Parts: sequence; structure tokens; C-alpha cells
Amino acid sequence: MSPSHNKPLVLANWKMNLSVRQSVDLARRVTRSLSRTTKIDLVLCPTFPALPGVAEVVKRKSIALGAQDVFWKAAGPYTGEVSPAVLRELGVKYVIVGHSERRQYLKETDIVVQQKTLAALAQGLIPVLCVGETFAERQAGQKDVVIMRQVTAALKGVTLPSGLGLVVAYEPVWVIGSGQAVEPREALHTAQVIRQVLIDIFPPSVIERQVRLIYGGSVDTTNIAAFVRQPPLSGVLVGGASLSAKQFIDLVRQL
Ligand code: 13P
Repeated sequence: MSPSHNKPLVLANWKMNLSVRQSVDLARRVTRSLSRTTKIDLVLCPTFPALPGVAEVVKRKSIALGAQDVFWKAAGPYTGEVSPAVLRELGVKYVIVGHSERRQYLKETDIVVQQKTLAALAQGLIPVLCVGETFAERQAGQKDVVIMRQVTAALKGVTLPSGLGLVVAYEPVWVIGSGQAVEPREALHTAQVIRQVLIDIFPPSVIERQVRLIYGGSVDTTNIAAFVRQPPLSGVLVGGASLSAKQFIDLVRQL
């Protein structure tokens, strides 16, 4: 993925919470405090219209740009959609695919998520593939089965030639925005389940060098350390706690 593969990865998913101006302001404040942080890979994922403004702020800094979604074709008659080629043109490096909010509200299926993953990789973007069970699935004892299905389906036909990277984020749907993360040992168990699926798909050296597993769901300053540098987990996807500059800077400084 990159020589910095061993560094923890922290992605800020601002979702649809901020205006363009607020996004650029937040990016400025985060960049001012954290752009000299070399021991962590930091990624800001603003809303689409804020990408150019945030790109300008993080340009030539050690902070990367991420998008929250992508379409599965590079160009064509797809009204309203955003091409992975255009994201790349804007300087985007990472792209979130299959976030549970898109699966829930936009009815994205495993096949859509797989198409988006392939399209992102074809443009050299690093997909941040989100998987996670709902509360009902968990109560039904289906958690691991759901995770295995989501990962297998999304990665069908995916290869990772050297130079390409992939992030798989375990985000239990029922803890997102709840203020209560899952127990770290549970996140680690699920990461092992994901890793087991990956072993059937990619050679071990590819998993070692090009794939990262991270956790998301109510990550905050009190729990972040438990999800980072805990193999196979090596990073976090942060929602709510990334919306305030102070809170996000404090969070990153825990690492
Ligand atoms: P919260 O950190 O607000 O729970 O959101 C997690 C998330 O969905 C990140 O993609």
C-alpha cells in the first residue's frame, strides 16, 4: 500500500454534517495542529462539494484526502453520480465504500459495494470497505456470518497488484453514533474473522503489505488506543468525534 503501512491509520468521516466552509475551516485547524504528525496516516473525508477546498488545505501536507462514496463507472450517462476518475483528479486517495448508512438509506447491496470497490481500485484509489452487522443480525447470532458474506461478496474478482491498497473497516451498525463502542476484544475477534476470509482471497504477502483492518463505531479519546496497534487492527474510522477540531486533535494525540 505504501511504505507507511505499519503506521496506524485514522480516517475522519465527516458524513453530511458540515457545510463547505465548515469543512475547510476544520481541515485548516486539523492541518495546523497535526500536519507534522509522521507516525500516523491521517485521512479527512469531507462531503463531495468540499473536496476541492479541503484538497487545497492538505496539499503538500502529510494528511490525505478521502471521499465518502464513489460510482462504479469512470464516466458516462450516470446523472448525479461521482466518478472515481474525477475523485482521483481532485487528489483523493481513499474512498469509503459500503458504509452502513448507504446500505441502509440508499439500499446499496453487496453487488453494488463490489462494483464500487473494483472501480475505485481501477483508478488507483484505496477502498475503505465497510462491513458490520445490525443489532437484529447480532441478536440472531448471525454476526460472523454477515461479516463473512459482506467481505466475500465485496471482494469477488478483486486482485491487488502491488501498489494498490485496501482497507477493511469493521463498523458494527448498532454502535455507530451511539456513544458506546464495542468491547475491544470483540472488535479484535471480528477482525480475525475478516482476516480469515481475506486469507482465502489474497496471498499472505498481499495481506501483510497491502491490506489494513480498522475499527469504526463511537471511537473517542477514551477508547481509541484499544483499537489501534492491536493486530490485526491497525486503525480507526471516526465519525462524531472527528467533527470538532479540538476533539479530533486530542484523539489523534492519544496515539
Ligand atoms: P461514529 O464515530 O459517530 O460512531 O461514526 C462511525 C462511522 O460511521 C464512521 O464511518
